[in-house]
Amino acid sequence: MTFLFNSDARRGHIFQQAFARELPDISFSTDPLSVDPDAVRYLISWTVPDDLPRYRNLEVLFSIGAGIDQFDAAQIPAHVKIVRMVEDGITRMMQEYVTLGVLALHRNLPAYLSQQRRQVWNALPQVQAAERRIGVLGLGNLGKAVLERLKPFGFLLAGWSRNQRELEGVACFAGEAGLQAMLSETDILICLLPLTDETRGFLNADLFEKLPQGAGLVHAGRGPQLVSEDLLAALDSGRLADAVIDVTDPEPLPAGHPFWNHERILLTPHIASVTQPHSAARAVIDNIKRIRAGVDPLGLVDRRRGY
Ligand code: GLV
Repeated sequence: MTFLFNSDARRGHIFQQAFARELPDISFSTDPLSVDPDAVRYLISWTVPDDLPRYRNLEVLFSIGAGIDQFDAAQIPAHVKIVRMVEDGITRMMQEYVTLGVLALHRNLPAYLSQQRRQVWNALPQVQAAERRIGVLGLGNLGKAVLERLKPFGFLLAGWSRNQRELEGVACFAGEAGLQAMLSETDILICLLPLTDETRGFLNADLFEKLPQGAGLVHAGRGPQLVSEDLLAALDSGRLADAVIDVTDPEPLPAGHPFWNHERILLTPHIASVTQPHSAARAVIDNIKRIRAGVDPLGLVDRRRGY
């Protein structure tokens, strides 16, 4: 039985060592040309490889990243399990990035950077954390972990998901009515939604209208969830004060795009969170052990939901 690794060589080396230690009965390969295609039971990749139909006995397709929106599910036979990457490294990095974004907006960093460029020495009024309302869209592993990390600052925390969740110290909202309710009381909105047909274009003028005047946005979900023109209009009108944007559509962001030089956008090139090979290998190995024990892997994708 073979595990086929289709990603960069550095990560492959680390995975190979971990597999040799922990799952020695599985043959590990990084070379699709040298494997017996019928022996391939597990495949890890960022996209669906063109030669997927060769692997007739494939059981599990693992994404090397947290998202699976880059997979075209129609190309993946129905019996093949699809598994997102749920691993501590990604989670930690996302906690850092969102904390960075929230603190940057909370402490008026975009305004101070602008003042610095203009050589203006001027203290702005500062809202205290206990009065700053943070709302997270998406309460999966990442959303929950981010809220946990934000707790010690003393912000007022809220989260929204499709289905009602309960989280200690977090006001949880669900469904359409819950979304309206949360947005109307959110000063800094964080998007960590998966990309699905329902979340494409989710961050649009309608949604921004429901936020209090002068709210901030931290977008670390997926680029196509944000309607760029609507963000620019919301920043121009003052509906939104500033935004921290890690994901764009398309990526890379084209030269000349208005986000590049916008005074009130802090832009990063999709680096909020990146799969860390040691912890990712650990997570995939644990998942294979789970599957072999007849237990669902962590991050198992529900194809109907799309994540
Ligand atoms: C990054 O965006 C990932 O999906 O891991």
